[in-house]
Amino acid sequence: MSVYLTEYLYKMNKKITKICCIGAGYVGGPTMAVIAQKCPEIQVTVVDINEKRIAAWNDKDLNKLPVYEPGLDKVVEEARGRNLFFSTEVDRAIDEAEMIFISVNTPTKTYGKGKGMAADLKYIELCARQIARVAKDDKIVVEKSTLPVRTAQALKSILHNTGSTNGGVKFEILSNPEFLAEGTAIQDLHAPDRVLIGGESAEAIEALVAVYAHWVPKENILTTNLWSSELSKLTANAFLAQRVSSINALSELCEKTGADVNEVARAIGTDSRIGPKFLKASVGFGGSCFQKDILNLVYIAKSYGLHEVADYWEQVILMNDHQKRRFADNIVTTLYNTVSGKKIAFFGWAFKKDTNDTRESAAIYVADYLLNEQAEIVVYDPKVTEEQIYADLDYLNTRSEEENRRLVTVVNDPYQAADNAHAIAVLTEWDEFKTYDWDKIYNDMLRPSFVFDGRAVLDSEKLEGKGFEVYTIGVGAKGV
Ligand code: UDX
Ligand code: ADP
Repeated sequence: MSVYLTEYLYKMNKKITKICCIGAGYVGGPTMAVIAQKCPEIQVTVVDINEKRIAAWNDKDLNKLPVYEPGLDKVVEEARGRNLFFSTEVDRAIDEAEMIFISVNTPTKTYGKGKGMAADLKYIELCARQIARVAKDDKIVVEKSTLPVRTAQALKSILHNTGSTNGGVKFEILSNPEFLAEGTAIQDLHAPDRVLIGGESAEAIEALVAVYAHWVPKENILTTNLWSSELSKLTANAFLAQRVSSINALSELCEKTGADVNEVARAIGTDSRIGPKFLKASVGFGGSCFQKDILNLVYIAKSYGLHEVADYWEQVILMNDHQKRRFADNIVTTLYNTVSGKKIAFFGWAFKKDTNDTRESAAIYVADYLLNEQAEIVVYDPKVTEEQIYADLDYLNTRSEEENRRLVTVVNDPYQAADNAHAIAVLTEWDEFKTYDWDKIYNDMLRPSFVFDGRAVLDSEKLEGKGFEVYTIGVGAKGV
């Protein structure tokens, strides 16, 4: 290769040596840990304003990392202190880096215009202003958080129009949405189906492609324009959530007709056009993305006057709300129309297994409904803390904090949760639930002993053989 060509390629592939990531949460933490692991020559600094969170990322005891993800501890152990750093010195990390990822939270707005639907972009805007203020040389700014379409436009405007010292500084914006799912984040990051990079500058896109190309085959790195990339993220989550709402809609029909939704899912999933994944009926989807992203999509569609499009996607959310509600309703009806003063054990609080994340978890809403009926709830989750469970309930503002603490108890032992309970409700599909001594649980419960399996994970026939009365989501009662 000629010297000139090599030089040209080098310029094209502006080599990145320092990366900064703003936001050390569920997305920023694991993603940066894997980038650092796979790119030992790049220094990766993850910054956050939350000192407690950064201290936890730096804790010698890897069990204390703020995010629970299988395999994350090993990745952090390998890279931390070598080329992976966690810090609260946001300005310094911005100043030093050539590439800055924005991974801050974008919750649904709880006030003003777009309340309950639009994404709250105040944290993103604060980051943009901070970058503009601090940057002394050219930066590539990468949107990692899920954002409404055309956020890049706002980012660009803030970056180019604010900051007093950066007249000559050039900012390139890229959209690089994260598709990792919690609980399998490390696996998803190590072997992604695809990496998506949207942008306007070929040079900036190439710089980020070069980072991922350390471990992702080039053909799995898709490049698009900025807006396609931003919209693809919302679309992917909307399609996934739609599948869950579709199968959940059928789960209710199965219960009425005597069909078994798991059999229906298997039957349709073998059609290669449909495929087997994301067809597991449940008490309702949760997580930080699905609801937020669909609400966002709905809000965007409405803002363009596309009301049919908005209504179409909104139905996915309405179905999900219905699913949570009818699961709780069924508990009340089955327990002779009253749960007042009755102890109900919750197995699981996280929004899915293998994570300690509880954002939008179905468990929160089912609990809230049962608490309105004066139930006494005892929660056991292998990974979620008592503090988090109370915070989730308090956040709803349905009743006083004192009342939440009076009606809800959190325990570290599933057998203690079930002791003297009228019913057990399975809200998360943790594998360990299948391995319990169900004879012991049965002996310690009140009669009749009900199990409401909102995840269809338990062997209902076996449990019925022991004496339990079992309701499994999407499975019609015998003799229907
Ligand atoms: C999702 C997307 O999968 C991921 O690509 C994106 O980056 C973020 O949002 P996550 O929310 O972490 O990831 O988990 P996911 O596995 O998608 O599950 C979301 C919810 O749907 C969970 O509550 C899960 O229990 C539920 N679900 C999923 C079902 O009820 N049935 C299914 O078949 C699949
Ligand atoms: P996600 O699931 O998108 O990663 P999290 O809420 O887990 O969301 O993480 C987002 C993180 O971003 C939080 O730890 C929060 O403290 C951090 N954050 C928000 N705004 C800023 C900011 N301006 N500077 C630095 N960190 C921020």
